[in-house]
Amino acid sequence: VFGNVVQAPEDPILGVTVAYNKDPSPVKVNLGVGAYRTEEGKPLVLNVVRRAEQLLVNDLSRVKEYLPITGLAEFNKLSANPAIQENRVATVQCLSGTGSLRVGAEFLAKHYHERTIYIPLPTWGNHPKVFTLAGLSVKTYRYYDPTTRGLNFQGLLEDLNASPTGAIVLLHACAHNPTGVDPTVEQWEQIRQLMRSKELLPFFDSAYQGFASGNLDADAQSVRLFVADGGELLAAQSYAKNMGLYGERVGALSIVCRAADVAGRVESQLKLVIRPMYSNPPIHGASIVATILRDRELYNEWTVELKAMADRIISMRHLLYDALRSRGTPGDWSHIIKQIGMFTFTGLNTEQVAFMTREYHIYMTSDGRISMAGLSSRTVPHLADAIHAAVTR
Ligand code: LMR
Repeated sequence: VFGNVVQAPEDPILGVTVAYNKDPSPVKVNLGVGAYRTEEGKPLVLNVVRRAEQLLVNDLSRVKEYLPITGLAEFNKLSANPAIQENRVATVQCLSGTGSLRVGAEFLAKHYHERTIYIPLPTWGNHPKVFTLAGLSVKTYRYYDPTTRGLNFQGLLEDLNASPTGAIVLLHACAHNPTGVDPTVEQWEQIRQLMRSKELLPFFDSAYQGFASGNLDADAQSVRLFVADGGELLAAQSYAKNMGLYGERVGALSIVCRAADVAGRVESQLKLVIRPMYSNPPIHGASIVATILRDRELYNEWTVELKAMADRIISMRHLLYDALRSRGTPGDWSHIIKQIGMFTFTGLNTEQVAFMTREYHIYMTSDGRISMAGLSSRTVPHLADAIHAAVTR
């Protein structure tokens, strides 16, 4: 009965890792998936995470019972700060950023009057799929300007201004994926004013908090601007990158409402979305996060380790930029040091990317995005050679 099922293509991001794993070359480098690697090219488990896990293991009162549908209450409370102080937020623990986006989208498709969501062009490849499958209709707004390799702020404002009243707008809270280009605080304020005046509903994707500036508070500024005006918003948070908890699938969806009684009803409906989907979320990752967030000393240790990851990425930007300059590679590569977060949107085209993979065993997404977190001082010269060869051939 399944004889007619056709072979599906690999995922454009996770499929890069599949191809990388099959390559026997000793010089291969995986710059596809946005996952942090050490200077030695190894995945990193934060020391603070190890400490938290130790505390959890030693606590014999802990059991493996089901969590409530909404997840670990303390994790939700600590993740939702600061809107929770006004009690007008419904926060549910979800399966990392993707799961939070999906639950939020399913809720909107059922309970919100406007089904259109505007996503930036370009955006993370999974966004359109998540929203379409949840029943929303996806449109784009201009975001990136390939000529300046920066923000097309005018285009963004025009497109949001032309969108229907009440439309949902997906915003990357910081460290935009894949471009590494963020609005300034002043630009965020203009976006906020426009969106509020048109009653556009913000849906923030916060997957890289801490990776833009190295500071958790600074990276939350965009979301907090919208929380502070008392209006509604959704925020999908992931702890995959900033706590290195990728495979634990730990994240949160917050729906900020105008009043506490509304938030209570929204939470009751979120439970109806989650229960038939996966019943309730896993306990371990959320317990790690709650252990760290509730303890001042562990929290401080986390911020230091997070800053170290962000700083290593910045140093890779400088190394790569200098390596291209010293090779005399044609073009202006200053965007490598100007862009922020985990990624550089190189401007290399699909054909150049295919060449670099074929000839240099450099694995990256076909849109020219490279994960700076996957580079090390050992692999930068190889990447610079590959880019040089690709643009001069
Ligand atoms: C990425 O963009 O590389 C990450 O968000 C990982 C993923 O799931 O795609």
